[in-house]
Amino acid sequence: MRNNIALVTGASSGMGKEFVREIAKKYKGLDEIWVVARRKDRLRELKKEIIGTRVRILPLDLMEEKSFERLKKALEKEQPDVRILVNASGYGISGSFEFGTQEDASGMVRLNCEALTRVTYLVLPYLRRGSFIYQIASSAGFAPQPGFAVYAATKAYVKSFSIALRQELAWREIKVIAVCPGPVKTEFFDRAYEQEEMKFYKRFVMANPKKVVRKAIRDARRNKAVSVYGVTMKITRMICKLLPGKWIAKIMDK
Ligand SMILES: NC(=O)c1ccc[n+]([C@@H]2O[C@H](COP(=O)([O-])OP(=O)(O)OC[C@H]3O[C@@H](n4cnc5c(N)ncnc54)[C@H](OP(=O)(O)O)[C@@H]3O)[C@@H](O)[C@H]2O)c1
Repeated sequence: MRNNIALVTGASSGMGKEFVREIAKKYKGLDEIWVVARRKDRLRELKKEIIGTRVRILPLDLMEEKSFERLKKALEKEQPDVRILVNASGYGISGSFEFGTQEDASGMVRLNCEALTRVTYLVLPYLRRGSFIYQIASSAGFAPQPGFAVYAATKAYVKSFSIALRQELAWREIKVIAVCPGPVKTEFFDRAYEQEEMKFYKRFVMANPKKVVRKAIRDARRNKAVSVYGVTMKITRMICKLLPGKWIAKIMDK
């Protein structure tokens, strides 16, 4: 008998952790939730909290090559039926591209784009009909953002990849959703604004991670391609669709 599982990356904090909590409550019939992140202690705490569904800890650094080999082997060994994949590992560093480090710039591309793509590729053969893929993009992916240039570009990639993949996988009835929240109150901001101060307006629209995740789950069940939490971000998305990217970039730069 194959185990029905969910696999969540970035499960040690923020939205990934909330996804694990919500999945355990809302998706019945799962045998296991596989949780991926670097901080094993955090994953152990989460495992203790989850009642009714087994949690398997995969302490992997998705910036390291050997992690993909380990994930591939675990999947080959267990041959699970993956019902839900959540790609939530990611980070952002704000500041001008010119004065940032090369390591930060390429790290965002490697984790937010490359790792997400590779995890999706490795898991895809095990996803069964009717399953879900949640790709955590961001409203930062709606338009180019001076001061957050690489991060916004990585999230535009995730959104575009997600919508195209959704179409490709429609025949397998696999639902792919790009989750595009605005600012969400998580540890993300501890790292994102180490170099410079956060723009004041972001504090006013800061969302609760649980609410963002619940909305994403509702939207996926309604077969939406993109999940956007909150009126402000919905309006932002509409404006970004209407105006040319170079105008938005100018406005954002003010
Ligand atoms: N917070 C926001 O305002 C916001 C808005 C829109 C989109 N997002 C996106 O949402 C996703 C989740 O972020 P969050 O807000 O929940 O932030 P968070 O609390 O900082 O969570 C980030 C997660 O990524 C994991 N991670 C970081 N580096 C990793 C690595 N090398 N290998 C494996 N896992 C790694 C972290 O775990 P470890 O440190 O334990 O490895 C953590 O579990 C990210 O893709 C982020 O870009 C965030």
